[in-house]
Amino acid sequence: MPRTPKILVVSPDDRLQAELTAALKGIPDLAPVVHHVAEIRPGIEAARNRRPDLALIEMTTDLRALKVFAEEVSRLSPETTLAAVFSPMLFGPDVSESAILIEAMRAGMQDFLRRPLSRADVEQLIDRLDRRSAGPTAVRLGRIVSFISNKGGVGKSTLAVNVGCGLGQRHPEQVLLIDASLQLGVCANLLDLKPATTLTDAVQQRDRLDETLIRQLAVPHESGLHLLAAPGDAVEAAAIDDDTMSRILTLARRAYDYVLVDTFPMLDQVMMAVLDFSDRAYLVLEAVVPTVLGAVKLLQLLDQLGFPRSRQRIIVNRYTGSTDNLRVGDVAERLGREVDHVLPYRKKLAIAANLGQPLVMTATRWWGFGKAIWGLVGEVEAIQSAGRGAATAEAGAGKVEPTNNGAVREVIRPEAPGEARRSVEGG
Ligand SMILES: Nc1ncnc2c1ncn2[C@@H]1O[C@H](COP(=O)(O)OP(=O)(O)OP(=O)(O)O)[C@@H](O)[C@H]1O
Ligand SMILES: [Mg+2]
Repeated sequence: MPRTPKILVVSPDDRLQAELTAALKGIPDLAPVVHHVAEIRPGIEAARNRRPDLALIEMTTDLRALKVFAEEVSRLSPETTLAAVFSPMLFGPDVSESAILIEAMRAGMQDFLRRPLSRADVEQLIDRLDRRSAGPTAVRLGRIVSFISNKGGVGKSTLAVNVGCGLGQRHPEQVLLIDASLQLGVCANLLDLKPATTLTDAVQQRDRLDETLIRQLAVPHESGLHLLAAPGDAVEAAAIDDDTMSRILTLARRAYDYVLVDTFPMLDQVMMAVLDFSDRAYLVLEAVVPTVLGAVKLLQLLDQLGFPRSRQRIIVNRYTGSTDNLRVGDVAERLGREVDHVLPYRKKLAIAANLGQPLVMTATRWWGFGKAIWGLVGEVEAIQSAGRGAATAEAGAGKVEPTNNGAVREVIRPEAPGEARRSVEGG
């Protein structure tokens, strides 16, 4: 499985970005998500929102600024490794490199990279990062599982709610469902909850948002599941951007063992943020030709985005087996993938939706819909948290894309392992 470290780069120099991209591209089995900002203040804010595994900050002669950055980032995102990037001539020819490093360490830096960046140095730094994140002080992070589709009405919300209640029964108070179907959230209705707080409160209180507040904003359901409900209306929904969603997910997986995300069928920036964090994405579809054709496109897109196949699973929902439907084998053939789960059509789901009583709470576990849902619950339990966000690397290495806060988000496509190895041998 490719490693997917989140890296924040703080430097006014765009060339550093290019150097890093080139160095990272040569490292096998790596699909990093790189976010670049030019200045210290937005850098601190980005660290707070995204909790990167690594923050690379370009050293200047202003060591006070470096110290402020280190202090703030250590406070706001303790798991982030801080590394200074320095040019050996920074302080002039009379100051030795070791003197520079000592100053940087005093300022709170934990690691270093010399410019121009070399692939070997960057690779070693990433290896050290891996060892740290596997160490005894590593933060235990919950698993993030999203339900996605590019066609509406296929059953994402139904499945998210039912899996959520099943998981909630097994892990009371440790499962959060985030209704990120922002404009048309239905999870509260499906659970017969009337939430007094929603994602809108998370946005409004974003400056004081932490693990405790996330739990306070979530509403408990009798199953043991907690729900962070969708905003009340479309105007409120528009206030949620990718940075806010990243922050909410970052905190949610520290507060809960499992975070399920119900989504809206549209691949926008918010959805990209959800994918960035997903340890698993369940692609939900129905066995009818137009939906399957749409799913083929979505799978291609996930591949182009560098979202690893090992994190994708396919669910055929509302399956009747009648001649009006494609057979499961036909679906698999058209998708060029195996179908991982088949959930039967159940009329009772309409009644369950109207009553706000998820079917999993009453259905038998031994066959049909109940059995399939409990199968999904077990599969989610078995997911190993990557402990880091998954990559959604853009097609084309080093594509740079502005985000809402004016920062630049760069994502790097992993090379085919063979290619990467060749370039290591060659270089
Ligand atoms: N296995 C099933 N059998 C029968 N009906 C189902 C099944 N799964 C979902 N449904 C019904 O299909 C309809 C759409 O389901 P749901 O709202 O969960 O889809 P969705 O993918 O979340 O839709 P949207 O894209 O609009 O958010 C609902 O009426 C739901 O009760
Ligand atoms: Mg829905």
